[in-house]
Amino acid sequence: MKITLSKKSKIGNVDFENLEFGKIFTDHIFVSKYSNGQWSEGEIMPYGDFLISPSARVFHYGQAIFEGMKCYKSENNSLILFRPDENFKRFNKSSARMAIPEIDKEVFFNGLTHLLKLDSEWVKKGDGNALYIRPFVFASEPSINASEANEYIFMIICCASKSYYGDQKIKVKIEEKYSRAAKGGVGYAKAAGNYAAQFYPTLLAKNEGYQQIIWTDSNNHKSIEEAGTMNLFFRIKDKLITSPTSDSILDGITRKSIIELAQSFNIDVEERPITIDELMSSFEKGELKEIFGTGTAVVVLPIESFGYKNKDYKIPEIENPFSIKLKKKLNDIQYDRSLDFGDWKLKIT
Ligand code: COI
Repeated sequence: MKITLSKKSKIGNVDFENLEFGKIFTDHIFVSKYSNGQWSEGEIMPYGDFLISPSARVFHYGQAIFEGMKCYKSENNSLILFRPDENFKRFNKSSARMAIPEIDKEVFFNGLTHLLKLDSEWVKKGDGNALYIRPFVFASEPSINASEANEYIFMIICCASKSYYGDQKIKVKIEEKYSRAAKGGVGYAKAAGNYAAQFYPTLLAKNEGYQQIIWTDSNNHKSIEEAGTMNLFFRIKDKLITSPTSDSILDGITRKSIIELAQSFNIDVEERPITIDELMSSFEKGELKEIFGTGTAVVVLPIESFGYKNKDYKIPEIENPFSIKLKKKLNDIQYDRSLDFGDWKLKIT
């Protein structure tokens, strides 16, 4: 593989203690191109701007998808990827839905491992520290014909990160007007446009003091789906409930890991639809003990309160919340302090 090294590393200028999510990128990127029906082997080059035609289809029709994954550093300096096969599978599942040619496993993993080895200094030890990896693919063919492209670019960029919201708890708003995803749509895919479509309703929610939206089903806004950057778990009495994945809900890798970890602690987990009515009645009865989100960027994020029909509902503080116990176990695996749980860790070095 061709590798062009950056002339000077930027790492010396980075304040790793005060990182804003998604702003500080490592020295190198991986790039592979698709044309004439195949992906190139790809190459590594310095992170930097690149030229692209103004008529590239991605700008006009949004044909683009991405993944989010993390690399962790253990106490003895191993680099560890968490369930990367799952990200790879979902990458191609998202691509297939957006009529983007699937990427070869070899190209994906060769590019990724070379890149991580090269920029390994950027992965810092300690809970909360990780390298956030963003593989993405977009339609680069210069043509505004409204159909799938014949040329694509696949890239992997990486940024130094802490968890998305740090240690804060967040406030969320249950959405009853706008929808994130419809049946038969692209809600399960990490399609770029899925995220863009959330920005406006989320901006309205932010103006009311919330950080995120709890999306409800697009038919009648009665059933809870996900929160856009995370899947959701509700602890009612001592049971954890999470909506089943579907064509309108992202099949979160952290979500499925948390389900397995909870079961290993003998916590009862139900994957079933949960309605706003059930949520409200369990709140009124004092049975709603926790709500938390799960995702690569947010990890496990407790929710402090939720807004519904212009009223806020605060979740009472409890001792030994499931969210903390599950997050700790997850972190122990990710930072290699605990044995693997199935086949979850891929050691790069
Ligand atoms: C992730 O958790 O990796 C996501 O994709 C959410 C992101 C939009 C911040």
